[in-house]
Amino acid sequence: MKKKKILVIHGPNLNLLGQREPHIYGRTTLAEINRQLKKISRQLNAALTIVQSNYEGKIVDLITASKGKFHGILINPAAYTHTSVAIRDAILSCGVPTVEVHLSNIYCREEFRHHSLISPVAKGTIMGFGAKSYLLGLEALLNLIDLS
Ligand code: DQA
Repeated sequence: MKKKKILVIHGPNLNLLGQREPHIYGRTTLAEINRQLKKISRQLNAALTIVQSNYEGKIVDLITASKGKFHGILINPAAYTHTSVAIRDAILSCGVPTVEVHLSNIYCREEFRHHSLISPVAKGTIMGFGAKSYLLGLEALLNLIDLS
């Protein structure tokens, strides 16, 4: 079976994982998460392109350019989850199946985090399992693509 091409997007401040609020996000670094993602992607016959950006416009451009190039998008929009109409619109307009992930459970945190602008345009959302959210999200995304 042909390899599934997946675009993985890490949003703002996720480059600081490991040092950033470890009581919330854990001690696993982004490099370690990416290593684990690549490991399971080999088992699941997927090819990953992984990008981290602190810039909303860059994330919008990546999503827009993913049409026709990727079978799916795995995204942790981080703080843009709660603010970005632009990222939401890009996901809608590119039509590439997207799974949203979060390390923390946003509903157990401050009220301003309780609303995601991304969830209504994502195929599904996985949150609250730390670094494991990404691995579960990748598996779920690949299952979904296989079914479609
Ligand atoms: C986050 C949750 C967001 O509210 C926050 O702004 C982040 C990380 C998470 O993975 O738990 O940067 O997306």
